[in-house]
Amino acid sequence: STEPLVLGIETSCDETGVGIVRGTTLLADTVASSVEEHARFGGVVPEVASRAHLEAMVPTIERACATAGIRPSDVDAIAVTSGPGLAGALLVGVASAKALALGLGKPLYGVNHLAAHVAVDQLEHGPLPEPCIAMLVSGGHSSLLKVTDLTLGVDPMGATIDDAAGEAFDKVARLLGLPFPGGPHVDRAARDGAITIDFPRGLTTRRDLERHRFDFSFSGLKTAVARWVEARERSGEPVSVPDVAASFQEAVCDVLVRKALDAATAEGIEDLLLGGGVAANSRLRAMVLERAERVGVRVRIPRPGLCTDNGAMVAALGAEMVARGRTPSALDLPADSSQPV
Ligand code: KG4
Ligand code: ZN
Repeated sequence: STEPLVLGIETSCDETGVGIVRGTTLLADTVASSVEEHARFGGVVPEVASRAHLEAMVPTIERACATAGIRPSDVDAIAVTSGPGLAGALLVGVASAKALALGLGKPLYGVNHLAAHVAVDQLEHGPLPEPCIAMLVSGGHSSLLKVTDLTLGVDPMGATIDDAAGEAFDKVARLLGLPFPGGPHVDRAARDGAITIDFPRGLTTRRDLERHRFDFSFSGLKTAVARWVEARERSGEPVSVPDVAASFQEAVCDVLVRKALDAATAEGIEDLLLGGGVAANSRLRAMVLERAERVGVRVRIPRPGLCTDNGAMVAALGAEMVARGRTPSALDLPADSSQPV
């Protein structure tokens, strides 16, 4: 095959991901997560994540190469997330990728984490329609992006002004006594619940929309859930965890879907892509498909394993950069924790 064989490294948060692709074909997607080490802190501890990346990096590269049936020297290029993300965590990935590129004499491509979340869909659904709108919702980010050429970056249309969507799921889960990371547990609990509580939809009043049409806010919702639970407990009434979970989840999904479809409609773009860990949410998936069909927007959502942070997404974007003849990064490529999208 003449398609580029690319190894991608992802270390922006708590997953050490190594992916190997040939063009848009996925050959290996190996992830070592330090999530359990963070569980007792109720959130990701940067220093713990960096150390875990350092320990997991070489074994993860070896496992990915074994799965793909290749040697490191077979690859045509190395791609790595250079930002945004946790500074120390990014440094481990970037330093490792530089060492590989230098040792193997192969080009290095520093890629943007959010653009990589978008690119990963090509591995499952084929070439990305451009332009498209992408909504990335995870524990670290909640953004609406316009994508015209993936390899040249993505244009932010809006983002969260406080908590990320996944963070809201995690905080509400904690409040309800569910384990970390809470998203999947809220999702599961909500299936046995009913939407009985009308929780607030952040940044959706006419006044908010003037300044924050495509932005999100979830901290008010989280506080509203906390107040509701407290009031119940004070009055001695039982709290139905499934009902609170279902009602909270409905409020989050309603705002996400409304704003994503509004962005698509406003730009006259007919393709919407979802990514990030929260895109695994069953209610979000059902709601976006249903409402998008009504307004004539096509939706692409990678399978849950590709929605969360992984190395395949980085390799996918790297392969696209090679295919489109983009210039490789210099070997003094910095890790940029606050890199704009
Ligand atoms: O993309 P990801 O693995 O890591 C980053 O944060 O970048 O996303 C993890 C987030 C966590 O907040 C987790 O609770 C949330 O995604 N999540 C979910 C679901 N699965 C994962 N949130 C809601 N419903 C889910 N099914
Ligand atoms: Zn991510």
